[in-house]
Amino acid sequence: MRWEHRRITAAIEQWFTLHARSLPWRGHRTPWRALVSEFMLQQTQVSRVLERYEPFLERFPTPASLAAATEQELLSMWQGLGYYRRARSLHKASMQIVEQFGGDVPLDAASLRKLAGVGRYTAGSMASIVGGHREPIVDGNVNRLLARLACDDGPQDASMARRMWERAAALVEASGDPGMLNEGMMELGATVCGPASPSCDACPLRDGCEAFAAGRVGEVPQPKTSGRRTVMHQHAIVVRQGSQVLLEQRPSSGLWASMWQAPTIESDRELDVDELLRRLPAGFEDLTRVESLTRTLTHRTVHIHVHTAATCVGGQAEGWVWVSDRDGPGHPLSSAARAALQAGGS
Ligand code: ADE
Repeated sequence: MRWEHRRITAAIEQWFTLHARSLPWRGHRTPWRALVSEFMLQQTQVSRVLERYEPFLERFPTPASLAAATEQELLSMWQGLGYYRRARSLHKASMQIVEQFGGDVPLDAASLRKLAGVGRYTAGSMASIVGGHREPIVDGNVNRLLARLACDDGPQDASMARRMWERAAALVEASGDPGMLNEGMMELGATVCGPASPSCDACPLRDGCEAFAAGRVGEVPQPKTSGRRTVMHQHAIVVRQGSQVLLEQRPSSGLWASMWQAPTIESDRELDVDELLRRLPAGFEDLTRVESLTRTLTHRTVHIHVHTAATCVGGQAEGWVWVSDRDGPGHPLSSAARAALQAGGS
């Protein structure tokens, strides 16, 4: 790094004071509101979280209120945010907070790490931003910012991660305000030092940045070598009866666990209508293919082949239900399931 740590941290803290976006978890910060925002923001864009955040907190204003809720109630408030495993972890964490911490979210990193779904980043973020403790954080945005500052062009492996955590720890030691520094680094990474076309002219660290000096901002950090995604084919059958639509619940583990969908046959290849009719319980009539949708998830590509059926005569499988309000709270749907129902005219 071209500047001393103290100069870097002071520049970030001052920049953040002037340029922080106004976000709901910043305006009114309580430990619980901050924890909910951290869970929602893992792997999900701020814009998507903005719509869901206040309604979720209105329904679950305290850890105890979430701990007392059913999983289906929780999932219905989490619909559309994806990565539903996080929602289940937050549920478990809320129970731990009630049972082990008297209902108050702990703010020291060691206690935070005991909570379900809380790793080093979330513990560091909560402990520093809410607790004021001198704990480092590295998320994707901070990783990119720190790699560029040092022009670290190594592969994004465990050794790179170790170097980043060491740099973040050295900076937080030099900081005047650990929470401000950490949140400022995230914000700078998110809004100025972005992955594509960073706005170096607006960056308070430009003259301290090794990658900028070397003209290599576009090359650092190296892109991550992404693992291959597995491909899954889902064949969704949308069938209506008057104003009602037929739904089934997914298994309690794996992709979109326990959420609802139109009855679906899954396979590792695309199936034609004749094969689907052989695999479905009897009773579906006039099965017609209408559209195929694709969802790209972290580890999977899911092709959803949407079909409609005119009727489903008596052939219901156990666990299938007719519902008149597909968005009712009792039947949380993933965005993919909602899109498939829409494509099928429901
Ligand atoms: N402030 C605290 N944590 C944050 C996050 N994950 N994203 C944006 N701002 C934050």
